[in-house]
Amino acid sequence: MINSRLVQSVLGGLLVLTLGLNWYVRQPSLVPNIEFAPDMYRTPRFNTYEPNSNFADGMTLRLPVAGTIARGNKPFPYGPGFRDSSRAGRELVNPFSSSDASTLERGAVVYNRYCTLCHGVDGTGGGPVVDRGFPGPPSLLRPFTRRMPDGQIIHIITHGRSRMPSHAAQIPLDDRWKIVVHVRELQNNAVASPEAGE
Ligand code: HEC
Repeated sequence: MINSRLVQSVLGGLLVLTLGLNWYVRQPSLVPNIEFAPDMYRTPRFNTYEPNSNFADGMTLRLPVAGTIARGNKPFPYGPGFRDSSRAGRELVNPFSSSDASTLERGAVVYNRYCTLCHGVDGTGGGPVVDRGFPGPPSLLRPFTRRMPDGQIIHIITHGRSRMPSHAAQIPLDDRWKIVVHVRELQNNAVASPEAGE
């Protein structure tokens, strides 16, 4: 048989004790609380640009190990210039095709984001940048560009050509390929109106 009065007085005692302890260890409001196991959040470490005696070159920030690539960054083993551009045209095959709806959708999104400002929504040129005086690019629908192999187009997107800047830093390789699919779509859909092609 539990003595309820005893339980009550023990609980009451505990309450007074915890309130008392709480009052006893109280801190002025401006002093931060006591840190328990401060190493958990104050880990000794070197900041990115801090000198570092652990390495021969004295730097904290390390260069990537030779031969490694950042996750998601597929290599594009072609330099700028015409020779590598035509080699890319001969060697590369677009891994994406217009038979895949998500490729078409993504290609249109990325093209509209990065290319329309100069090449226009339909590829014939006349984007807003051109309206403001930037020398207009040739139409992507002209026979010359239609005959250009996919690999050469992705080379132009990657390295740029003359006044067209490189887009390698902004657009991942897979998205660049999908843009090429979209450019082909623009070309094929324009067949019905050949005057658009020059
Ligand atoms: C800042 C404006 C600008 C942007 C943005 C731009 N281009 Fe260009 N593009 C040009 C110019 C200018 C040329 C002509 C370069 C030359 O004189 O050789 C060109 C040329 C090209 C050519 C070669 C066409 C031919 O018939 O010779 C292709 C293909 C091309 N661009 C595709 C793209 C794609 C795809 C994008 C989007 C990723 C893009 N461009 C973004 C300005 C731009």
